Amino acid sequence: MRYDFDKQVDRTEELVDSLKWDIKPGELPMWVADMDFETVPEVQETIQKRASHGTFGYAIEPEGWSEAYVKWWKEHHHFQMQKENLIFATGAVPAISSMVRSLTNVAENVLIMTPVYNIFFNSILNNGRKVLESPMVYDGKAYHVDFEDLEKKMADPQTTLMILCNPHNPIGHIWPEEDLVRIAKLAKENHVVVISDEVHCDLVDPDKEYTAFASVSTEARENSITCLAPSKTFNLAGIQSAAVYVENPLLRQRVWRGLNTDEVAEGNAFAYEVAMAAFTYGWDWLTELRAYIYENKQFVTAFLRENLPELHLIPEDATYLLWVDISKVSDDGRKLAAYLRKETGLWVTGGDVYGGDGAKFLRINIATTRKNVADGMRRLKTGIAKYERPDITR
Ligand SMILES: Cc1ncc(COP(=O)(O)O)c(C=O)c1O
Repeated sequence: MRYDFDKQVDRTEELVDSLKWDIKPGELPMWVADMDFETVPEVQETIQKRASHGTFGYAIEPEGWSEAYVKWWKEHHHFQMQKENLIFATGAVPAISSMVRSLTNVAENVLIMTPVYNIFFNSILNNGRKVLESPMVYDGKAYHVDFEDLEKKMADPQTTLMILCNPHNPIGHIWPEEDLVRIAKLAKENHVVVISDEVHCDLVDPDKEYTAFASVSTEARENSITCLAPSKTFNLAGIQSAAVYVENPLLRQRVWRGLNTDEVAEGNAFAYEVAMAAFTYGWDWLTELRAYIYENKQFVTAFLRENLPELHLIPEDATYLLWVDISKVSDDGRKLAAYLRKETGLWVTGGDVYGGDGAKFLRINIATTRKNVADGMRRLKTGIAKYERPDITR
């Protein structure tokens, strides 16, 4: 191991202003999707070098920014992009909110497969559009797309946009190519544009691979926008650096116009260089990170099997977010999460915020040191043992 993912970094320091670690004494945060690891050394050096310059005026997109994305996705995801079709954005969420505004009208439906990343709801509702959920089917072990339901909802003339999460947060699923092909076909037939949010795509188990939505068919390529970023992969969310890829020129013009009107298409003094450094130097670091997170996942799987068999961890291949079925203990994930925080200091997310059947789940972020993961599991065990179960009939 060249990189030390066991290093305990104090993220409660004042200078850091960490959202995740804005905690009460003794708490352990395993909620919001960022990692407790230091980023790639070359990225740190790039930031330090840029900071040491001392001037921080407006930045322009440097030569090489789009090439860095193209090269990374070609080499690591077998997806060939054209560099001129990439547009900088200050984040996936600002870009998605902007696209909701520029690609749909007020009161139209935006389709999402739930449970899904909670902020999609905000991007839709805050802009006066309607959330149309197509709940995924959970068979007690895993999730599947309900294609019959999806087709019906796509066919609604009020549905003009779908936001797909690929891989899927919070369930951690890598969509198989045949599902993506089917979604693309339905979307095209029903004149529904697809935004594929792929910010978690690099965080898959060793030897697993995601499939870029735009790569699966002509329909997918021509009728989609892909959100990409180094933010999740390299723990750089606070730098606010992302991109959207749009192959269809008409769609690209509308998206570009929207991002610029909303003033979310210009990077800060660090945003471009940091992305370039990450995609240029980050592969070895990422390979070790994947192995470390995978071992964390194995640890939790074994711990739950031995100590908390009434919880069911959905076995999936992507993200550092674990989706845990708590239905034998509670049907109110929010209440259970609040209880765990109060009683044990463990801060996880109640699954209700993700829609669908999320209330029967907790989401646990394991992108932290093994020591913290073990501590988190101990707290979970204590909390579940003490939790009185008035809210379900058993
Ligand atoms: C699916 C998904 N999209 C977007 C984001 C946030 O992206 P950004 O910080 O670039 O706005 C997250 C963060 O958790 C996420 O899970």
